Amino acid sequence: MYQSIKILGSLTLALGLFSCSHTRNISSEKNLPSLKQTFKSDFLIGTALDSVQNLPTNEKEAQLIPYQFDAMTPENAMKAENIHPEWGRYYFDQADKIVDYAQQHGIKLNGHTLIWHSQLPAFVHQIQSADSLRMFFTEHIRTLASRYNGKIDSWDVVNEALNEDGTLRKSIFLDKLGDDFIVEAFRLAQQYAPDTKLYYNDYNIEQPQKRAGAIRIIKQIQAAGVRIDGVGIQGHWNIRSLPFDAIEKSIQEFSALGMEVMFTELDLGVLPNPWDSDGAEISHTAGYSEKMDPYKNGLPDSVAQLQAQQYEKLFNLFLKYKDDISRVTFWGVNDGQSWLNGWPIPDRTNYPLLFDRQFNPKPAFYKVIETGKSK
Ligand code: G3I
Repeated sequence: MYQSIKILGSLTLALGLFSCSHTRNISSEKNLPSLKQTFKSDFLIGTALDSVQNLPTNEKEAQLIPYQFDAMTPENAMKAENIHPEWGRYYFDQADKIVDYAQQHGIKLNGHTLIWHSQLPAFVHQIQSADSLRMFFTEHIRTLASRYNGKIDSWDVVNEALNEDGTLRKSIFLDKLGDDFIVEAFRLAQQYAPDTKLYYNDYNIEQPQKRAGAIRIIKQIQAAGVRIDGVGIQGHWNIRSLPFDAIEKSIQEFSALGMEVMFTELDLGVLPNPWDSDGAEISHTAGYSEKMDPYKNGLPDSVAQLQAQQYEKLFNLFLKYKDDISRVTFWGVNDGQSWLNGWPIPDRTNYPLLFDRQFNPKPAFYKVIETGKSK
């Protein structure tokens, strides 16, 4: 008897504590400053979302996303290999759910991405003739652009078409359709998504040579009388090597061409790189070693502070050019969800975002908010 009273007692206490801390969490999240409110008159603040499947059960994330962000990019759901894995056969389910979610919460959605050399379904690599590839190209853009026209805000029409030296990257599109394929992609997107903004998106295009390549692409599209509304600088950088000067020059040069400038996949990794350069070339990978995974037991405060300072400096720069910048999107919500835990070395513990693995705000979050409040 005593035993069952004791068990009942502890159960009640545990439930009480649970509901108490549950309430505290929710209310403290509500009391948190909001990124989207803080930068409301400056630019949109976005996040990338892999799936909305778990959102009703993951209450923390479900509350945090619409409270903090007013823009969103599906991290993988609209990529060709996922949405169009077999010739003529589309799987819209996951993408549609994200689009519905964004609409319900008043979040602007950026479609990612229509034409990318990577993450192509296997059948595309087997295509031999230029005519068949053109058929895939046209059909793919037509289907996605028209399906989501009026439902999403924008498309990354072409993603990562450039090499580091500014030349066009070797790809099946370049190979079979020639270097006009980018203009053609924008022409089709304009035709089938007349109400949707159209962007070129790439990493490292703040760097001079690659930036010159992006400028050439923009001018080529404009000269053909085709619409391009903006350019996305992805922003996969490291806290120890942010290219601030190059970023500033890029904002100036892209906006001088009438482009909206966006930072579309922002994350500031804290781990050592096996090579000298940053970026997001996903075919470059290296093997695991303990030495390359120094913070697997937690992020030291000194590193968290350095990251906060770098985010602060970056957001001050963004604010200086707030009239040219329309959106800043983080590539994920929390550190645990980031692709940087798996690239360029698998199974590391990285901390590139503003929220930790439990969705708690990090020092970088508060610094970013401060820059917005003290403008
Ligand atoms: O969904 C499958 C799952 O079913 C399977 O069990 C698992 C096993 O590996 O893979 C899962 O798919 C992974 C997918 O992410 C979803 O998590 C893929 O293997 C993995 O390759 C994929 O990585 C994505 C990568 O692009 C390639 O598409 C990253 O999440 C995504 O963050 C990354 O994003 C890119 C941008 O689109 C373009 N710019 C660079 C950026 C970073 O690479």
